[in-house]
Amino acid sequence: MQNLQTKTVREIALEMPITTRVFEEFKIDYCCHGNTLFDEACRNVGAEPEVVMEKLDGVIETLGDREHDWVADASLGELIDHIVDAHHVFTRDEMGQLTPLMAKVATRHGDHYDYLLRLKELFALLVDDLGPHMMKEEMVLFPYVKKLESQHMSAAIPPFGTVQNPVRMMRIEHEAVGDILKEMRAITNDYTLPEGACPSFTALYHRLAHLEADLHQHIHLENNILFPRAVELEQKTFPLLVE
Ligand SMILES: [Fe+2]
Ligand SMILES: [Fe+2]
Repeated sequence: MQNLQTKTVREIALEMPITTRVFEEFKIDYCCHGNTLFDEACRNVGAEPEVVMEKLDGVIETLGDREHDWVADASLGELIDHIVDAHHVFTRDEMGQLTPLMAKVATRHGDHYDYLLRLKELFALLVDDLGPHMMKEEMVLFPYVKKLESQHMSAAIPPFGTVQNPVRMMRIEHEAVGDILKEMRAITNDYTLPEGACPSFTALYHRLAHLEADLHQHIHLENNILFPRAVELEQKTFPLLVE
């Protein structure tokens, strides 16, 4: 593989999306704090860069970069539809189903494992953040970006001034989500189940870890692909718009 030392994990994830599988495995943050050079990002999670590199080579060799063509060639409208259909719908469904499951597990096992009570609080915070966040994207930001792409100059100047304002806000909210996910993972010792955990406890951990991985992909598509392209398109369309 090419020399990764000079690249950030964000750049690597953008060039070869399949690498995000390895970043997930090593818990390397490529979405919210992805502007970190590869070696440093590995060491931040206590992993040897050579070991991660070996894994990356294996994944690229067996799976290739099939996703790359799709994302690179997608219009902004197609990217947005994919984000909403694949990630927003899944996140809403999981938040709806996991809320009662989380409550059930915390009620049954919270006496014995008190971190479950904090986990329940954190999950409630996550739901409270993500619901309005996705709504703002769907109601305000995404429609403007779609209009900008389809109508160019005849798209109305948005009430928020420039797309850079909501983009900045969405990035801040993504960081908050990233921090909550990190704490959830830390207090559950990387979602390690206690001996003899019941099926509800097991399902909860499994699904929270899956939701976390999906949110990382989702935020990566927005922070690293959609938002920069939307800002660039707006600057080309309305060069005089300033922040
Ligand atoms: Fe989103
Ligand atoms: Fe978002």
